[in-house]
Amino acid sequence: MESTGASDASVVTDARQSEAAYDRRRLQQWLTGQARAGGVARRDMLRLVAAAGLASTVPVALSAPRAAAAGPGIVKPLPPEWFIVHGTNAEARFESFADTGFTTPVSRFFVRNHTTTPRLDAATWKLNIWGDGLTGRAREFTLADLRRFKPVTRTAFVECAGNARNFFKTQQGRAGSGTPWTTGAIGVAHWRGVRLADVLQKAGLSRRAVDIMPRGLDDEYVTSNGTNYGRVRRPMPVSKALDDVILAYEMNGAPLPPDHGHPVRLLAPSWVGISSIKWLGDIEVSTQPLYSPWNTDFYRLFGDAYPPEGSAPLARQTIKSAFELPWNADLPAHTRHRLTGRAWSADGAITRVEVSTDGGASWRAARLHDRGQEGSWTRWSIPWKPERTGPAELLSRATDSTGRTQPETTVHNTQGYLFDAVIRHAVTVSG
Ligand code: MTE
Repeated sequence: MESTGASDASVVTDARQSEAAYDRRRLQQWLTGQARAGGVARRDMLRLVAAAGLASTVPVALSAPRAAAAGPGIVKPLPPEWFIVHGTNAEARFESFADTGFTTPVSRFFVRNHTTTPRLDAATWKLNIWGDGLTGRAREFTLADLRRFKPVTRTAFVECAGNARNFFKTQQGRAGSGTPWTTGAIGVAHWRGVRLADVLQKAGLSRRAVDIMPRGLDDEYVTSNGTNYGRVRRPMPVSKALDDVILAYEMNGAPLPPDHGHPVRLLAPSWVGISSIKWLGDIEVSTQPLYSPWNTDFYRLFGDAYPPEGSAPLARQTIKSAFELPWNADLPAHTRHRLTGRAWSADGAITRVEVSTDGGASWRAARLHDRGQEGSWTRWSIPWKPERTGPAELLSRATDSTGRTQPETTVHNTQGYLFDAVIRHAVTVSG
């Protein structure tokens, strides 16, 4: 937590509660007509009400959104050697990171779009900050205004909450709904911009503010069955907004490119990718808890292991590791190979990566090439000289500085979020 001054400290303390207590308070406010719930279906509010123990009704099951039928709507080229296109999204091929440095070049960075990339003019763009969580009237900021604040750079991943979702199906036999990402819905970049805390303070943040709701300028999200969820927006507690979130206008030393939020996006380090709203248009600052479909219908954990109303809204990402190798890569026997990969965690630095080349029977420590940092990744490598020809499975298992290690399986959730289990990477050893 960076220092935000004495007045903000009380705001932070106010807002820093468990998500469950937070939800409960939100619901009480909603029930007494204090909280607004624009865009949130009544059944979802009822589900939350049931969750908080405020009513006895058990709400109906959720249906996940379906991908839009349109083409990718992405501006940058998507060469097939670097990307796999899934509907409106482009997954990076993890193996293509092998010849990149620490950061992911814009040309290889995955794109997750609910609709299509809008073309916005930085010269006329304005950010509107408004709401009863300000001490005064709404304020507008141009890009030139933002550039007058002290710039900061954060090196951080953006990773989709559903990254590696496909392994729920292929490894655990139970799919999660949504884009079948393998491991390429992640990239690490140097993001430069200004602290959201500084801008909120300039806008006149009230000590009573509890939530902010950043909203994108891309088209409204309409599913193929016709449900209109409105513009992409997701509430965030003021505690996170004042901590390490930035309004980013540069990615890897150049102006933010169209597909990644030009001219300005939010960057919420370590949190699920949906928190980093692109093409930012406005931020509501509220003394009341806020809801959108992105913290009620989506981005909670639903399923057998979770209460009917789902888990608390997802916040931090999880831990993962992956080989920079194509799936079913062909590796000649009796040759010394240098296996490389990356490991990352939202909670702490990566302190250990172990690799198994015998399906998990034995493990060896890989060499780490970067000094780890939470919310970013660490490159690793290990030599391997296979002797036996035929199919083989390579496994990597990361541990972070909090002592958390990737488990063998991830508890299933219906939307396939936060897969953290060890991935069994199929290869063929040829004679
Ligand atoms: N912001 C807007 N306005 N619209 C979107 O569709 N997608 C979110 C987030 N911000 C999205 C958005 C999701 S789900 C993810 S994972 C990240 O952006 C992806 O960021 P990227 O496309 O720059 O990789």
